Amino acid sequence: EVLAADGLIALPGFVDLHTHLREPGREDTETIATGSAAAALGGYTAVFAMANTDPVADNAVVVEHVWRRGREVGLVDVHPVGAVTVGLAGQKLAELGTMAASAAGVRMFSDDGHCVADPLVMRRALEYSKALDVVIAQHAEEPRLTVGAQAHEGERAARLGLAGWPAAAEEAIVARDCLLAQHLSARLHVCHVSTAGTADVLAWAKQRAGGAGISAEVTPHHLLLTDERLASYDPVNKVNPPLRASTDVARLRTALAEGVIDCVATDHAPHAPQDKDCEWAAARPGMLGLQTALSVVVHTMVRSGLLDWRGVARVMSERPAEIAGLPDQGRPIAVGEPANLVLVDPEATWTVRGAELASIAENTPYEGMDLPARVVCTVLRGRVTAHEGRIRP
Ligand code: DOR
Ligand code: ZN
Ligand code: ZN
Repeated sequence: EVLAADGLIALPGFVDLHTHLREPGREDTETIATGSAAAALGGYTAVFAMANTDPVADNAVVVEHVWRRGREVGLVDVHPVGAVTVGLAGQKLAELGTMAASAAGVRMFSDDGHCVADPLVMRRALEYSKALDVVIAQHAEEPRLTVGAQAHEGERAARLGLAGWPAAAEEAIVARDCLLAQHLSARLHVCHVSTAGTADVLAWAKQRAGGAGISAEVTPHHLLLTDERLASYDPVNKVNPPLRASTDVARLRTALAEGVIDCVATDHAPHAPQDKDCEWAAARPGMLGLQTALSVVVHTMVRSGLLDWRGVARVMSERPAEIAGLPDQGRPIAVGEPANLVLVDPEATWTVRGAELASIAENTPYEGMDLPARVVCTVLRGRVTAHEGRIRP
């Protein structure tokens, strides 16, 4: 079969270091099958499934289930992320070695959704991860500074009567963990950077370590949306870390362009209608991201001249594949090798409709928006997984 590729741009398949797939536990909002479909339609050939499932992915049984189910579905490589601590409770280290040695071959560990707040636990986690040659991915939040927090701490939150989430809650923990990781020569990946100050901390930490050890991601929503959106109190805009000020968004864009932030990761977070169509205070944080990520990156980074298509390949595919240590992803195709690639129509525009996305949940913050660039075709190891908006099972 011949696919017309006139006017399209070929990129290595995208790699998402940060996806919430909700299986096991909340299959009413997303399953590995529906999340894999969303990923393939979004141009992804590999995703990292976060550990805050129910039960938590803190043992070999759960990570092997996620890994096996991902293989059965076969639309994208699903790499389970293991929990750093038992039950994501932040106290007792999980058996990272057992998960790494399991069939799932876990290379990345995170307590995302929670934070390893105790510096001694974090230190032991980094030491353990270094011995195993795996990566700790930290949810960047000092929880004692965000108790009850509902929105970016600033004028707008004060006016709306929402308790503030200070930028310092993120910057303090990122600084602490960068210092610890560098002291121990361990690998630390910083999840969803959301403030200008965190970009400054990362620039400093990376320069001091000669660039080694530290990597970081930014979400599409933190590259585009600001806390101006909160005026409507629409919980679709509620997310952790919160939407920040326009000065933060501007700095995140330049930090990504300069490589201070290495890559884009979606933090794709499906939620049920009853957890989003409710009062702001009761709503769960998080938003869908897999099928809109490329378009948001083109809108914020390419159309503004901050990244060219070479740069898109770097932040969506090459760097995340390097960070996670995936040898067969994120690079050009060798002759005779089955390809992981995505074809993109750079001129297309489309209107986002949550109900039309492959995810079971519909909580997209881009509802009704016209976004540029469309994934035309995704190829996983030489097999078409998505073509013109349809899954090819
Ligand atoms: O907004 C968020 N949602 N941030 C997180 O850290 C967790 C995620 C989720 O699991 O819903
Ligand atoms: Zn998080
Ligand atoms: Zn997350």
